[in-house]
Amino acid sequence: MAAPGRDPFHAGSADEADEAVRGTCEDASVCKRFAVSVGYWKDPYIQYFVRQAKERKAPEINRGYYARVHGISHLLKAFLKKTECNCQVINLGAGMDTMFWRLKDENLLPRKYFEVDFPTIVTRKIYNIKSKPPLSKPIMESHSGESLLIDAHSLDSCRYSIIGADLRSSSELEEKLKKFNMDTQLPTLLITECVLVYMTPQQSASLLKWAASTFQTAMFINYEQVNMADRFGQIMIENLQRRQCNLAGVEVCWSLESQKERLLLNGWETANAIDMMKVYSSLPQADVKRIEGLEFLDEKELLEQLMQHYCISWASKDSSNLGLETITF
Ligand SMILES: C[S@@+](CC[C@H](N)C(=O)[O-])C[C@H]1O[C@@H](n2cnc3c(N)ncnc32)[C@H](O)[C@@H]1O
Repeated sequence: MAAPGRDPFHAGSADEADEAVRGTCEDASVCKRFAVSVGYWKDPYIQYFVRQAKERKAPEINRGYYARVHGISHLLKAFLKKTECNCQVINLGAGMDTMFWRLKDENLLPRKYFEVDFPTIVTRKIYNIKSKPPLSKPIMESHSGESLLIDAHSLDSCRYSIIGADLRSSSELEEKLKKFNMDTQLPTLLITECVLVYMTPQQSASLLKWAASTFQTAMFINYEQVNMADRFGQIMIENLQRRQCNLAGVEVCWSLESQKERLLLNGWETANAIDMMKVYSSLPQADVKRIEGLEFLDEKELLEQLMQHYCISWASKDSSNLGLETITF
């Protein structure tokens, strides 16, 4: 129900739509925690952000998450290697992502790691960090100098910042990032993992354009749905709509071509897009063998269909000639 005194079809429904989008943060982290608990990949930190799933997740969902996490981390690490970690990473719509802690454990922290999400999500993340030493200690360890800023809505340390902002307003985003010492001259990696699809095509285009015009040397990694015009895609859309979650940006998710085109039309010099089946096929044989041994999968076809309906696209612009356009799977 919309709040009293509000136009039930506009103000109320916009808030409700945003609330449903924020709800996807919980979905993603619960699924990741479950897959971690089965042994798909190691993440000692996710347990501090989200409860264990009440029911088992299907093996095809777990494998899908494995491919997603592997795919993003493969491209991220390639960028860190090209820049020798002399860079910054900005994870947009980061939710309860734990990459900062995992990179610190591997001694791969960039000069600064930023995360942005809606203020209510950020408040929840910061609350967990403050109350759980395995999360707060690594931040203190990587911090030096002046006292670290941490309140309910933001966290700012030397190497890690969390910012509450709406990604649909680039000016708000830029202002807050600058306040926390974002350096537009540093090679910069921006990540949107299952985020752009919740914005209209105009809003995601304006975010991509802002990123391409703000940083001279940069890479953008995006994970989201693809091939959504077919029957399977339509069912995915209907399932989400049933939970009041509207994929406002679904038009861009028609094909790999439309994904690439959006990047190229919004200021990026090179663009690639591959579906998750391709990512899965690029995994080393030993990894495939290990994860396929974790759970019995009855429905191979369903797994393939699911993987063909998600993709990773990435783009670069490379004024420093670091060779970013050669990054691939
Ligand atoms: C599906 S979740 C993914 C979370 C995380 N990237 C992951 O993959 O685990 C989508 C996230 O994007 C955030 N988000 C979506 N639209 C946003 C916006 N306009 N401004 C800020 N955050 C947004 C949501 O709050 C949510 O945390």
